Amino acid sequence: MKRTKIIDILKSVDYGRETLVMGWVRTKRVSKNVCFIALNDGSTINNLQIVVDVNPEIEEILAKIHTGASVSVLGKTVESMGSGQSTELQCLKLEVLGQANPDEYPLQPKRHSLEFLREIAHLRFRTNTFGAVFRIRHAMTFAIHKFFNDKGFYNIHSPIITGSDAEGAGEMFHVTTLNIDNPPRTEDKKVDYSQDFFGKQTNLTVSGQLEAELAALALSEVYTFGPTFRAENSNTARHLAEFWMIEPEMAFYDINDDMDLAEEMLQYLVKYALDNCREDLEFLAKRRAEEQKQKPQNERDEMELIERLEFVINNKFERLTYTEAIDILKESKPNKKGQFVYPVNDWGTDLQSEHERYLVEKHFKKPVILTNYPKEIKAFYMKQNDDGKTVRAMDVLFPQIGEIIGGSQREENYDKLYSRIKELDIPEEEMWWYLETRKFGSVPHSGFGLGFERLMLFVTGMSNIRDVIPFPRTPKNAEF
Ligand code: 4AD
Ligand code: MG
Repeated sequence: MKRTKIIDILKSVDYGRETLVMGWVRTKRVSKNVCFIALNDGSTINNLQIVVDVNPEIEEILAKIHTGASVSVLGKTVESMGSGQSTELQCLKLEVLGQANPDEYPLQPKRHSLEFLREIAHLRFRTNTFGAVFRIRHAMTFAIHKFFNDKGFYNIHSPIITGSDAEGAGEMFHVTTLNIDNPPRTEDKKVDYSQDFFGKQTNLTVSGQLEAELAALALSEVYTFGPTFRAENSNTARHLAEFWMIEPEMAFYDINDDMDLAEEMLQYLVKYALDNCREDLEFLAKRRAEEQKQKPQNERDEMELIERLEFVINNKFERLTYTEAIDILKESKPNKKGQFVYPVNDWGTDLQSEHERYLVEKHFKKPVILTNYPKEIKAFYMKQNDDGKTVRAMDVLFPQIGEIIGGSQREENYDKLYSRIKELDIPEEEMWWYLETRKFGSVPHSGFGLGFERLMLFVTGMSNIRDVIPFPRTPKNAEF
């Protein structure tokens, strides 16, 4: 007989049918001559209740079953008398697939701290919280491809190993097969990368954007969705050294078209989660509400999770320039009272997450898109404005998160791009192919990057980015 998934059994009202299920035991409870097993197979957050009539023969099998064990159950579906679920399974045949020694198994049917669960990341998938998070992560991945596919965008696989630094921030992991204890040297004692695997120095990509641009300048509308790597030493709840990024790139789009797409996409994804991940979201909403109760009043969310998600799809994002934002921040209460860790004094400084969150959570009370940043704090490829000071960048800022999207219109003018590359001392031999697209049929174009885990933080209401990716990579941490 073929196995039926628990999600399908719980949906069905076809009682009295012989059914085979397999899964992991969440709890086992014995009362009089009946044993109740709560079984979960990951297809849904809900457990299937298995009802076992205890007799001497089955008692022996039951003795081997504890929380965490895997079992196979052949049974008959019956309408549940208890509240909550409609269907349970009356056991006909019970088999243990794999035992879990209760003295060693670290997961107990109680709430464990997220910190503890990070230390057992190989088992944390088996908790309600992480089951919910990773089912939602899948749904968001699918929704992203669906969103772009329905719009006629093409998915481009950009390389993971590259020879260039797309963001120019120098935060790269090097890729080499040279013996690092004794690398070949050139005459002037530098490492001789011409003898390395690729015949040049290479690294893990920080962004697929540059390659996506090449594709957009032929296929018009494309996107990448891949892993990106940053060796920045920021140990925060919003940074990973390995994270996934969605980077659409569109020919013939200006910065306004770019913002429209970013806003439409975020609203689409949040709505997709509300429409398709309801039970998991309700579980996570309850969990977040409980977590909030532990916090001081002034640090608590103003909206509960589902309300906040609905708010984002029902309200237009606020759009303003960096300069306008700086004026608001300078005059803001926390700035005047010295409550920002980084006080806002001068035009030209980069915004910290505390400033972004102030704008979103306190001032506008909705998502914000900032444009026209100072060119000094943004990447070389952004389109320069006529004022000579700013570039056509746009960052989307979200409650709880701060920056969720960074993007821009691209500089399509060869001379301007070339002089910016020279100004910033970017090696021309790394960029010749990128520059050539501005020589041959250059067009206005734009794009942005959505940090997938930042989106996941927002949608799930989890507070630490380490808890929305299966195996987080952060400074001093690559255990699993
Ligand atoms: O703003 P960033 O650095 O932009 C780019 O990489 C551009 N090439 C994107 C483009 O225009 N195609 O990164 C984009 C987004 C950020 O807004 C943030 O959501 C996320 O990527 N991000 C990170 N997420 C997790 N951990 C990190 N260390 C991140 N750095 C950036
Ligand atoms: Mg950015």
